[in-house]
Formats: sequence, structure tokens, C-alpha cells
Amino acid sequence: MKFILASQNPHKLKEMNDILSAHGIEVVLEGDVGLHVEVEETGSTFAENAMLKAKAVMEASGLPAIADDSGVCVDALNGAPGVYSARYGGPELDDAGRYRLLLENLRGQTNRTAHFISAIACIFPNGDTIEAEGICPGTIAFVPMGNGGFGYDPVFFLPQLKKTYAQLTPAEKAAVSHRGKALAVFEEKLKAYLAQQK
Ligand code: IMP
Repeated sequence: MKFILASQNPHKLKEMNDILSAHGIEVVLEGDVGLHVEVEETGSTFAENAMLKAKAVMEASGLPAIADDSGVCVDALNGAPGVYSARYGGPELDDAGRYRLLLENLRGQTNRTAHFISAIACIFPNGDTIEAEGICPGTIAFVPMGNGGFGYDPVFFLPQLKKTYAQLTPAEKAAVSHRGKALAVFEEKLKAYLAQQK
């Protein structure tokens, strides 16, 4: 089964395919089927934004679509950047600019606790939907560490592993990450859904 991923992010695509390909599921970027759907993320939750993105791509392509909306919520910043993680600091910042701004906004702050959330939404052309969510608790490091991954990975620290997301291999990250957990739930729900269709 093929899903169109409502995203331009090749890192998200790889993380999804690494997990879902074992179950005969192929995920392709919307660009791979000639689409670039602009979706305003007007939802107030990750789940709402994920469904907005998936629905727009399903309607544009007529194919099953999947979306991940994710972000990092920092306790000392009252949950910011949260659903605004991709837009933190404005459009001129890149990934490194965004995590540097986060470190700057936490300067002098000893409470570094945070969590990443991933909301996965999938919608089929007949309107059926599957939703899943995963959370990974951690802390915000004092300095960036590691070269792997993307986004805020170099500053998202896992105390139990004593490493940031960016210091993990893709398989290690998938085993503990918000997206890995969300995809595990999604996989189970998808299996049950497909069994029902038979
Ligand atoms: P969106 O879900 O594409 O709207 O954006 C999520 C924001 O959170 C972007 O800034 C991503 O770089 C960041 N983000 C999402 N997942 C991860 C992750 O696994 N590691 C690091 N940053 C992430």
C-alpha cells in the first residue's frame, strides 16, 4: 500500500519508511507525485494540524495520505515552541537558527525539561481516518551535540541514554522517539483497519 506524505521533509519520509516498509507500506513525498500542497496549519493541536495536512493532500491526489505534525514543548517556556516549532523565530531561520534561539531563550534556566510530540494522521479517499500520537520526554541540552537527524535533534537530550537525538543512529532514534512511538501505534491501528476491510 502506498501513502502520500503531506510534507516536503525527506527526514520525516526516511523515518517513516524505515519503520513502515517492514509492513509492505511505501510512503512517498507529495513532490514525488508532482504535488506541492500549501496547507495553513491553523489547528491548535498537533493532531488537528496533522489531519489538515493529510486531508489536503488526499483531496489533491485522490490517494491515501499520511501526515506527521510534530514539535518540541518546553516546560520553562509554557510549552513553547509547541505547534509553532517549525515557525519559531520566523521564516528566515533555518534548523540551526531555531535551536540556537531556543538555547538563547533558555539561557540561565535550570529547568530544562521538555517533550517532543508527533501526531500522525492518515486519511483514505473514502474518508476513513486513522490517528496516532507519540510522546518522548527529555531535556534541552545546554549546547548542541551530534550531527545526525534534523531540526532540534542536536539540543534534545535523553537523560537515560545520555545522548541527544542527533547522537543516535536512525534505529536508536526510532526506538525511543516521539515519531517512532506514534508510528508503532499507527502500524497497529492500520493492521486492524486493513484486516477489517478483508
Ligand atoms: P512540522 O511538523 O513539519 O510542522 O514541523 C515540526 C518542527 O519540529 C520542525 O521545526 C521540525 O524540524 C521539528 N521536528 C519535528 N520532528 C523532529 C525530530 O524528530 N527531531 C528534531 N526536530 C523535529
